[in-house]
Amino acid sequence: MQRNSDELLSFIFERIGQIAMLNDNEKLLVALAKMGRDIVFADRCTIWILDKEKKQLWSKVSHGLKSVFIPSDSGIVGASVQEGKPIILNDVYQDERFNHDIDEASGYKTNTMMVIPTYNRENEVMGAIQVINKKDNGLFTQKDLDHLMLASTYISETIKSTFLLEEIDATQREILHIIGIMGESRSEETALHVKRVSKYAYILAKEYGLSEEMCTTVRDVSPLHDIGKIAIADDVLKKPGKLDIEEKEHMMTHVEQGYHMLKDSKGILLQAAATVAYEHHEKYDGSGYPRQLKGEEIHIFGRIVALADVFDALSSNRVYKKAWEPQRAQSLIKEERGKHFDPKLVDIFMEKRTEFFAIAEELKDVYNEE
Ligand code: C2E
Ligand code: SIN
Ligand code: SIN
Ligand code: FE
Ligand code: FE
Repeated sequence: MQRNSDELLSFIFERIGQIAMLNDNEKLLVALAKMGRDIVFADRCTIWILDKEKKQLWSKVSHGLKSVFIPSDSGIVGASVQEGKPIILNDVYQDERFNHDIDEASGYKTNTMMVIPTYNRENEVMGAIQVINKKDNGLFTQKDLDHLMLASTYISETIKSTFLLEEIDATQREILHIIGIMGESRSEETALHVKRVSKYAYILAKEYGLSEEMCTTVRDVSPLHDIGKIAIADDVLKKPGKLDIEEKEHMMTHVEQGYHMLKDSKGILLQAAATVAYEHHEKYDGSGYPRQLKGEEIHIFGRIVALADVFDALSSNRVYKKAWEPQRAQSLIKEERGKHFDPKLVDIFMEKRTEFFAIAEELKDVYNEE
């Protein structure tokens, strides 16, 4: 079974077209593995990633199989990676390098195999692409190897860029977290405050039924909700007692200040952060600030952070107040159902309140214990 060059080209264009539309990394890797498999009419394709530090090869995707780790010098994949050379084998069990562990664990019999090492930008081996068992008990040929080589260039380029994007994304989230802590530290809040609000926000988002991506977004941007407070004067921000009207008005500007700091950035994460900064003091009944938005006019992230923030403000010490008992915080939140807070979120809070109390307890500020 083999394609002529026209068929090969149209196969490649069709797959690349489908793959380009995927924005979920897991699905993308699966689609790449299928491309490797189908370009040579194999039964399976495994994409291996080399972890140089742990000296392991890691099967990132493999049809129907769980990820496995093997020592980076073991088996035929290991040999190909070590030598940086492709391998074709049409009788795998005759090769002494073959590592029988995986077949034994999976109950799947490997007969024929091709392995091609993949390279990163620095031209170091990054892993390998392995196909197993040519369909209809066929044998792999040099032509198959050439075809797989073609696909492997595309597959490894695509994997490189998803890794890069994942890295950039993780770095951005880390930086947001640090900025959140820096912002809060001026009002004598701790890193724990930021962590607690994130955790509450994630639970609320998850139970509300938001997608995993939305959940992690609100979790990771919630630490920035009060970033505008860095523009609030110290004597107001750190005032031990109640604020007078003027001070309160100055304090309330933290929502616009935060919004203006973030709003012009292009990234989805910072856009979400801008929304949260702007809308976390809006109230469901329209009596909040700064725009008196009502109900679902308030972005779900704003509604979520509003509840998370107030629960945290109530259940921990502030320069201006002592921490409330969880029960007391709970009654206020319940009372504000449909007034300050989205009723659906209050219901979720009530249902999950033991989790909230456990987080409050586990991540309690040290000074709360006095
Ligand atoms: P924060 O300390 O993070 O509080 C967030 C929100 O939690 C408050 O938003 C309020 O809705 C709720 N909250 C906190 N403590 C209490 C409380 O004891 N009772 C009730 N019913 N709700 C509470 P709000 O009011 O818009 O305040 C925004 C920020 O303004 C607060 O953030 C805090 O930094 C500051 N702030 C508010 N009131 C005072 C005050 O009396 N003294 C000082 N120094 N700062 C204040
Ligand atoms: C090997 O490469 O020898 C083992 C890996 C496998 O069978 O999938
Ligand atoms: C307080 O009552 O001490 C503060 C209430 C608020 O944050 O609005
Ligand atoms: Fe705030
Ligand atoms: Fe806050």
